[in-house]
Amino acid sequence: MKRVFALLAGCALVGVLSAPAAAQDYPTDPITIIVPFSAGGPTDTVTRLVAESMSKSLGEQIVVENVGGAGGTLGAARAAKAEPDGYTLLLHHIGMATSATLYRKLPYDPKTAFAPVGLVTEVPMVLVARKDFPPNNLQELITYAKENKDAVTYANAGVGAASHLCGMLFMQAIETPLTTVPYKGTGPAMTDLLGGQVDFMCDQTTNTTGQIKAGEVKAYGVFADQRLGNLPDLPTVKEGGLEGQSFAIWHGLYAPAGTPEAIVNKLSEALKTALADQRVIDRFAELGTTPVPADRATPAALQDKLLSEIDRWKPVIEAAGEYAD
Ligand code: MLT
Repeated sequence: MKRVFALLAGCALVGVLSAPAAAQDYPTDPITIIVPFSAGGPTDTVTRLVAESMSKSLGEQIVVENVGGAGGTLGAARAAKAEPDGYTLLLHHIGMATSATLYRKLPYDPKTAFAPVGLVTEVPMVLVARKDFPPNNLQELITYAKENKDAVTYANAGVGAASHLCGMLFMQAIETPLTTVPYKGTGPAMTDLLGGQVDFMCDQTTNTTGQIKAGEVKAYGVFADQRLGNLPDLPTVKEGGLEGQSFAIWHGLYAPAGTPEAIVNKLSEALKTALADQRVIDRFAELGTTPVPADRATPAALQDKLLSEIDRWKPVIEAAGEYAD
């Protein structure tokens, strides 16, 4: 509402509202950040922590809206179509890059539909299973999955999700397709894993560290070059016998394309402030992740990352032959 009054007042004064003036005053109303997955999952967790801190430095409320489904593409499509005024943003992850190849028909072009604001985090991925799943280590998991491939179920957050990518790489590596159970996010997938309704999944430490530490799930390995500081007993998947499987899930903050540069820059500064906030740093550390350094929380760094990751994953996805409409 405040925004509407400001616009009308501005028009009355100068006859026409100039974009730079609107950008200068920004923000005058609450901002919405779309999370393209369910509440309670890893993207949601990261977003809420960052949003709380950004809201303080911007002096406006930030509302987090979960628009889950289709591996993050429904929420991304909603954000792509939003007014480019800085009041609707999107916090998405590596799926922004992989969906460019995974989807034959995407209602937006990930390369051009957004104005990147900045990178947020990089998060390791961990293979976890329900507590009473028979395999006790990665080698046993591989053998068990091969021998029981029609019975074993793998949870993910839909085609384009990080959990989908990780599962795809795992199944490719062990040359065994398994039955996947898609959710709108790995928050609800974790609930079902804890309840024993699905067997295993691969998900970010931001959604698995607490459950691993509490002994509520079995953990088989981390997809990283080195063991994690907060889970030192967990081997890397390389130690468990899976070579060449190291990658991290990166998150980025976006505005719709056409958002004034001054607004994008203001948001990027607020993002940097949030990522330097000790509360955010501490909570991220507990969850096994770290904020990116300030020089990567920028539009240029996110744009570079997005384009290089689209190129990196295209041949991998094409080799796997996994597509969605
Ligand atoms: C994923 O698998 O892409 C994420 O974990 C989704 C989510 O944040 O729920």
